[in-house]
Formats: sequence, structure tokens, C-alpha cells
Amino acid sequence: MSEAPNRWDHDVEVMIDAERIAARTRELGQEITAFYKNSPVCVISILKGSVIFAADLVRALDLPLSMEFVGISSYGNETESSGVVQITADLTRSIEGLDVLIVEDIIDTGLTMRYLLENLATRHPKSLRVCTLLHKPEGARVKVPMDWVGFTIPNAFVIGYGLDYAGLYRNLPYIGVYRGPTSED
Ligand code: IMP
Repeated sequence: MSEAPNRWDHDVEVMIDAERIAARTRELGQEITAFYKNSPVCVISILKGSVIFAADLVRALDLPLSMEFVGISSYGNETESSGVVQITADLTRSIEGLDVLIVEDIIDTGLTMRYLLENLATRHPKSLRVCTLLHKPEGARVKVPMDWVGFTIPNAFVIGYGLDYAGLYRNLPYIGVYRGPTSED
């Protein structure tokens, strides 16, 4: 998997299909709705990977909520996080005194989330909670709080439903393990 894909005839093993994602998102929506009990929530979706999950999750929340986005780029190679994180797009409003829910696509080493939590905490929200669609516990290098987890998965590099490999495959409606192009040239 050393070269970036430039073709669409990929070989992907489906890990979590669209129906399971939708069912789990509905469950998470009910749990989060019950937790916040009608209080306003600022949902922060982490760009770019969590956008598709966040779009579905907020529609499962029966709460007064606003949406914000934080763009993150982490240095490292394509399939491994270095933990050195840069904010590429910042919030458009203050989160001081707000109940904030961070929505992330995947927590692997935990380094990105640790950075984000530390950064957002300096802005004095009333509360800061985390909902991640996926968690890869085998990759953990630091412990980060996770209030809601969609699926705990094995240590494979996954794509689809927002997650990319070299910028591609975010639009797959399922989560799968990328096996490379279907055929060799
Ligand atoms: P962490 O800092 O190692 O926890 O990784 C967090 C970020 O790395 C995520 O927000 C993703 O952008 C990316 N990432 C980690 N694992 C995967 C994967 O299996 N597929 C796609 N992106 C991943």
C-alpha cells in the first residue's frame, strides 16, 4: 500500500455495512439525546473524516444544537498517525460556557483526540464530551475519554463512510478494509 490510489476499481472487504451503521447511529442518537435532556449542545465535527457520520448523527439527535467544524491535519504517513497535529480550520464562535460534543470518525493512537481535547479545554466550555464512530483499542498510545463509541474494531486500516485512503473512498456507504486495486496493470 505504498502508492496512492489513482483508480476506482478497488478491492474492499466490507467490515460494517450501511444498515449496521444506520442502526448504531440511531441508538447513539437516542443515548445522547437522553443524556443532554433538551439542553443546547454545540456539536463539533472534526474535518474531514467525521463529516458524514456527524451529518447522520445530528439528525438522530432530538436536541437544540448548533454545529461547528474543526479542520485537523496530522503529520505522518498515510496510514499511521504521528500525533503532531495542526488546526487547519478553526471554530467560528466561542464555546465558552457551552456543552460541547466532539464528533470524530476514529480514535486509533488517541494522539489527535488528546491534542483536540487539550486545545478545546483552553476555551473554557461548560463540558466537553466525545462521540467517536470507531475505536481501535489495539492502536492506543494514550488514554482519552470516549463518552460514546459506535463500534470497536480490530487494528486494520479502514475506509469509507467519511474515512479516506489518500483522500479517496470517503463516499463509500459502508466501512471496509482497503485491499488495494482490484487488478494489477
Ligand atoms: P489517532 O491520532 O491515531 O487516534 O488517529 C486519528 C486520525 O487518524 C483519525 O481522525 C483519522 O483521520 C486517521 N485514522 C486513523 N486510523 C484510520 C483508519 O483506519 N482509516 C482512516 N483514517 C484513520
